[in-house]
Amino acid sequence: MDLGQFEGRKRDHIRHALDSASQAHGLTGLDSVRLQHEALPDLDFEQVSLEAPCLGRPMPTPFYVAGMTAGHPEAPELNRRLAQACAERGWAMGVGSQRRQLDVTGEGDLDRWTEIRRQWPTLALFGNVGIAQVISTPVDRIRQLVEALEPQALCVHVNALQEALQPEGTPQFKGALPALERLCRSLEVPVVLKETGCGFSRSTLDRLRDVGLAAVDVSGLGGTHWGRIEGARAKDQPGGQLQYQASLTFGAWGIPTATAVTYAKQSLSSSVEIWASGGVRSGLDAAKLLSLGAVRVGYAKPVLEAALDSPDALQHWMKLQEFELKVALFCTGSRSPAELRQKGEKWQTSAS
Ligand SMILES: Cc1cc2nc3c(=O)[nH]c(=O)nc-3n(C[C@H](O)[C@H](O)[C@H](O)COP(=O)(O)O)c2cc1C
Repeated sequence: MDLGQFEGRKRDHIRHALDSASQAHGLTGLDSVRLQHEALPDLDFEQVSLEAPCLGRPMPTPFYVAGMTAGHPEAPELNRRLAQACAERGWAMGVGSQRRQLDVTGEGDLDRWTEIRRQWPTLALFGNVGIAQVISTPVDRIRQLVEALEPQALCVHVNALQEALQPEGTPQFKGALPALERLCRSLEVPVVLKETGCGFSRSTLDRLRDVGLAAVDVSGLGGTHWGRIEGARAKDQPGGQLQYQASLTFGAWGIPTATAVTYAKQSLSSSVEIWASGGVRSGLDAAKLLSLGAVRVGYAKPVLEAALDSPDALQHWMKLQEFELKVALFCTGSRSPAELRQKGEKWQTSAS
């Protein structure tokens, strides 16, 4: 791996991710999901609890920071900022792709994660590798990443559109399913398959039924769009016109987050948790996704924005998500995210 090129790419990703042109605004499908207002909730606001177990472990909130590779000089500080806030507020934290630690020999990067784990020993962390690495790397190497981070789960990300449009991409996905199955059977930690903003179709989810996954993070269309980001990057590169023009064609490609959660509910067995991310921009969005069947809800770009601002801004933004979700729970007469999910099931049955 060319480290300079890798770091430059990660810096570009952050810059473009923060640009509103990279956001697939209005396409999550959440605008057409309405929660049913309960004018007479039989509870006090203070009785509302956000507690929601994560893969069997009790957690104070159903929220997580979706994995983001930092990749600029302040990256370690940014990760510490996120870890500190998540530990304080009871959020889980996905780390960005650990591909660099697989490809680079030297212990520095692994040590960084070991430090975070040492400083916040009870923080629920999710590791992160790409499907291309799962296909091409022996399981024992991936196990080393897991041992350094001691995550609660390992996320494997899939990003076919991004790899296809990225000038230096690795669109080699052949053999993904058996490789994933091998990983699930061999690793001691639960494995989560996550998209990165294009969601999962019903037929993909059907193929995932018996792979051994603990959860699927649908990460659907409606937020950060990697086709747009790679297109914008390609535009500035010599010879990148083809990718740039194609990215305009594919700017709304993907399965909306709300639709992907509904598909996941219909296709996956009930032992596989449904996590939802991709364009989640408020506690009300989170409530809608819980009502459709998600058990955890994740944010990427808005967390990055708040964390880059300041630790106080990050805390305020996280509190706002929690407060908005509590309001939605109270005003639907739900004591917990689990109760909202049960109500959502009833609403959907009576609507169909
Ligand atoms: C700057 C940035 C870097 C990201 N890096 C990764 C990554 O390394 N691994 C991964 O699985 N997803 C990565 N993602 C994707 C997010 O986890 C998430 O799936 C996607 O951004 C949609 O969420 P959002 O609309 O809230 O941003 C990244 C997102 C951003 C904004």
